[in-house]
Amino acid sequence: MTRTVIVTGAAGGVGRAAVARFAGAGDRVVAVDRDAEGVRTLADRYDSVTGVAADVTDPDDVARVIAAAGEVHVLVNNAGVIDRLGRAHEAGLDEWNRLLAVNLTGPYLFCHEVLPGMLERGGGVIVNVASVAGLRGGRAGAAYTASKHGLVGLTLNIAATLGDQGIRSNVVCPGSIRTGMQVVDHVFPAAAEGLQRDRRKPPPAEADEIVDAIVYLASPQASRINGTALPVDGGFIAY
Ligand SMILES: NC(=O)c1ccc[n+]([C@@H]2O[C@H](COP(=O)([O-])OP(=O)(O)OC[C@H]3O[C@@H](n4cnc5c(N)ncnc54)[C@H](O)[C@@H]3O)[C@@H](O)[C@H]2O)c1
Repeated sequence: MTRTVIVTGAAGGVGRAAVARFAGAGDRVVAVDRDAEGVRTLADRYDSVTGVAADVTDPDDVARVIAAAGEVHVLVNNAGVIDRLGRAHEAGLDEWNRLLAVNLTGPYLFCHEVLPGMLERGGGVIVNVASVAGLRGGRAGAAYTASKHGLVGLTLNIAATLGDQGIRSNVVCPGSIRTGMQVVDHVFPAAAEGLQRDRRKPPPAEADEIVDAIVYLASPQASRINGTALPVDGGFIAY
């Protein structure tokens, strides 16, 4: 059976690699990003990819994506933005709202839209992309950390409440990855010092190493895995 896979944040580092892997494995992929040029490039490159320019925070855009997708078998909520690593008293409300909207409300909107169809058909798979900042307190700013903890919670709630109806919901929690997101401008000074000090940090992962985990969790080989938050961070979380 050909699966339909939605990948958000498809024009970014992890997203592009995920689209390539799913399309290469014979899935039909709906590639979603606010970067219209990026999704067009992907659709031009792969016959089985439909590109949809959309903002994951906009309910109308999300409804448009679902309409274009039809039956969705796998949803990969990967779109995300990083904050300026500000602590709670430093990060302003604008930044807080933007981070929560993209990193948490976006995945919620997609889950809200795809789950009814998945439930009707008796099953479906959700793979969210959070961060080790969704499992620990000191890996990013307050806004990013809160948004990714929220995404882990959403993932586990879906697994717990809908697992008995055939829904598998898991979340990948990467450490740092060699993508565009690593370049953080205007980091707060205390955060910059902290980054310098942390010498135990493993080198950043390649996007494909994160995609290995995403593809596995989306596969039938992971049929017994539900409600898991999987760190993919080279062991950094063990400290
Ligand atoms: N890069 C890292 O070091 C790192 C570490 C841990 C977790 N992550 C997570 O991995 C995921 C992928 O990140 P990446 O490294 O590929 O980053 P990236 O910046 O290369 O890609 C993110 C993509 O999301 C898209 N996007 C952002 N806001 C959007 C919106 N409102 N609507 C639609 N698309 C939107 C961007 O256009 C971009 O193409 C993110 O959820 C990120 O939080 C990244």
